Amino acid sequence: MADQEGIEFMLPICRWKGYGGATDYQGATLETVTWACGLLAKTERLTVFGTVHAPLIPPLIAAKEFVTADHIGEGRFGLNLVCGWNEGEFEMFGATLRDHEARYAYAQDWLDIVKLAWSSREDFDFEGGFIRLKRVRANPKPYGGTRPLIMNAGASPTGQAFAIRNCDALFSTILHGISFRETAQHVENIKALARRCGREIDVYTVGVVTCRPTGRQATDYYRHCIVENADWDAVDNILAMRNVTPQTYAPEEFRRIREHQANGMGGLPLVGDPDTVARELAQLAAAGLTGIAVSFVNYLDELPYFCAEVLPRLARSELREKPGAI
Ligand SMILES: Cc1cc2nc3c(=O)[nH]c(=O)nc-3n(C[C@H](O)[C@H](O)[C@H](O)COP(=O)(O)O)c2cc1C
Repeated sequence: MADQEGIEFMLPICRWKGYGGATDYQGATLETVTWACGLLAKTERLTVFGTVHAPLIPPLIAAKEFVTADHIGEGRFGLNLVCGWNEGEFEMFGATLRDHEARYAYAQDWLDIVKLAWSSREDFDFEGGFIRLKRVRANPKPYGGTRPLIMNAGASPTGQAFAIRNCDALFSTILHGISFRETAQHVENIKALARRCGREIDVYTVGVVTCRPTGRQATDYYRHCIVENADWDAVDNILAMRNVTPQTYAPEEFRRIREHQANGMGGLPLVGDPDTVARELAQLAAAGLTGIAVSFVNYLDELPYFCAEVLPRLARSELREKPGAI
C-alpha cells in the first residue's frame, strides 16, 4: 500500500533486545537488511532502509549485504547507520559499547570502508584508527553505478557532525512545543555546517500520526493509546538506560519526557483531523525539513485513512507530487 500510494521510504528500527514491560516492547523485531530485501523484492518505487549497528558487524560483510539488497531493489536500498547506545544489546554480542566520541570515530572507519568497498575498482588497504584491512576486493558494486542513500540520526554535536560529514540525510527529533523558529534555525544551522564542508544534507524528522475525522476523535484516541494504555514499565526501562529517572530530572520535566517517549519512541505528535495534520506537516516543510518518517499505532487501520485524506491535501498544497499509477 505504501508503495502504491507513493510513500517514499520505509525506515525500520533495529533492536536486538526488548525493553521489557508487560508488552516486552520491541522484543520481537526482524533483522532489518533481510527485511529490506523482502520488501524490495515486492515493491517498485519505495526506498527501503536497513538499520545497522556499525560496531556489531564487520564492514565488508555489511557492505556486501547492502549491495545485495540494492541489486534486489534495483537501486532502492538505503542505509541507516547507528552507533548504538543500549548496553544490554552489546553485551549479548560480547561487544563493548565504546564511549560516545569513540563510537563515532569507529563508525567513521567503518563507513569509509563500506564506501570504498562500494566504489574502489582496485584492491585497497585500509589503515584507520580502529580497523586495518589488507588487499580488500569487493564486487559487485551497488546497482547501476549509484550508491545507496545513507542516513544517520545523531542528536549530539558529534553525531550531527558525523551525519554532516558522511550522510545524505540527518534525522532530527523535534520535541513537542519547540517553536517554528527554533526548528527552522536548526535546519538552517545543519545545512550551513554542511555547506562549510562543501556538502549538501537534507534534514528529516520523525512523527507519530493520530488522524481521525474530527479533532476530538483524534485527541481521544491519542489519550487512549499514549496516556491511558502506554506500557509505562517499558517506557521507564528505556528512559533509565539513558539515565532519565525521577532522581535525575525534576518531576514536571520527567513527566514531559516520559509522555514524549511513550508516543512512538519520541516522535512529534501529529494529532487531529486531516486538515490539522496536513497543516502541521506543511509547517515542517516550511521550516526547511525535506521529509518525515511517520508511524502509526495500527498501520493497517490508519495508513489507508492517512493516504486517502492527508496525502491529497499535501499534493493540493504542492508539497507532494501526486504518485502516478503503477
Ligand atoms: C529516526 C531515528 C531512528 C533511529 N534508529 C535507531 C535504531 O534503529 N537503533 C538504535 O540503536 N538507535 C537508533 N536511533 C538512535 C540514534 O542512532 C542515536 O544514537 C540517537 O539519536 C542519539 O544520538 P547521539 O548518538 O548523537 O547521542 C534512532 C534515532 C532516530 C531519531
